[in-house]
Amino acid sequence: MTDVDVRSGLAVQFARQARDCADIGSQVYADLCRAASLGLAAGGRLAALLEPWRDERDGELVPLRVLAAAHRLVLEREAPALALWFPSVGGSAPDDAAGRSACFDAWCAALESHADRLPALLSVIPQTNDPGRSAAFAGALAHLAAAYPRPMHVHELGASAGLNLLADHVRVTWLGGARGPQGSPLVLEDVWTGDPLPPDAEADVVERVAVDLSPVDVTTTEGRLHLTSFVWPDQLARFERLRAAYELAQQVPITLVADDLVHHLRGLRPVDRALLVVAHSTTWIYLDADVRAEAEMCLQALGSRATPTSPVVHLRREPRALADDSTTDFEVVVRCWPAPELGPLSAFGTGTPVRLARTSAHGFPVVWHEPGAVELQV
Ligand SMILES: C[S@@+](CC[C@H](N)C(=O)[O-])C[C@H]1O[C@@H](n2cnc3c(N)ncnc32)[C@H](O)[C@@H]1O
Repeated sequence: MTDVDVRSGLAVQFARQARDCADIGSQVYADLCRAASLGLAAGGRLAALLEPWRDERDGELVPLRVLAAAHRLVLEREAPALALWFPSVGGSAPDDAAGRSACFDAWCAALESHADRLPALLSVIPQTNDPGRSAAFAGALAHLAAAYPRPMHVHELGASAGLNLLADHVRVTWLGGARGPQGSPLVLEDVWTGDPLPPDAEADVVERVAVDLSPVDVTTTEGRLHLTSFVWPDQLARFERLRAAYELAQQVPITLVADDLVHHLRGLRPVDRALLVVAHSTTWIYLDADVRAEAEMCLQALGSRATPTSPVVHLRREPRALADDSTTDFEVVVRCWPAPELGPLSAFGTGTPVRLARTSAHGFPVVWHEPGAVELQV
């Protein structure tokens, strides 16, 4: 995790961001960040523009905020010269030195010509919500539907816009098969593998609650612009997934709750004659150990209140080693209170952590296997 108290200076922060962007597969941003780093070190136009943020701590993620600010201007059609270089709006990524230089000039010019908006644009918290992670939730919900054939109330903690709460409306395919509604706007192709796949059971989700300190309402233009601006402009597959998920979110209601997840957990109770699922994905990894410990106490207390007619499940899609945010090895783990009487999960005791699959940070492939008991790092 980034050390929030370190102040490396913006030139160093942009150089580091350039490396991350290159590693994660955004050449456009890698080139822009490298040019920005050199420009800042030389004290050029960018240094003057970003002077108010010169001493921000590394943990404030200023490079990501600046990148998102310029991208947002492009998405708002306020930066046509830069749009020429951004595939997210139909442009072509630069492929030679002249193009890279023109792209950087257009990027600086876009930021300069909207300098009055920068304080507001740079004040937003970097936020992503990758609907590709629904590939894991879709299979996990099928396991839970087989275990507890009853209506489900699903609360996602650290949900951002809650797009992964729509997992049961997503069509998932694998070599030789598919699940989920035909005609769904969001199709995740070739994302499942392994053996056995989850049971072929349909989840009856009657309530979807997205809990976040700062939830994003993607049924509004503002919400969509906010979330989209943080996707890197040459990662087109992520754009397509996000656009499809926005369409789904117009059709299927999600209740947004602005709250701290521990506070929300404290107020949760099992639901009469229904299954309560408390889920999270790529969120525990960002929490401090003491917050995770408090959340765990709340989950245990919630589990102890569950009954056969009002069961509770904890579903997590997080890395095995929570202390290491560089890991790409994520696991899909469930705990059931009380143990179900049906389906593959009935082989495990009440509250036993059971791993269903392994997956990657961004969501796929999801490799399903025979459910097996694991140690859980809380
Ligand atoms: C990396 S995002 C993951 C979003 C989503 N779960 C996904 O997988 O795409 C983590 C989210 O957790 C939220 N978050 C962090 N700490 C939180 C807390 N204490 N209470 C509620 N939400 C929190 C952040 O606002 C952010 O939206």
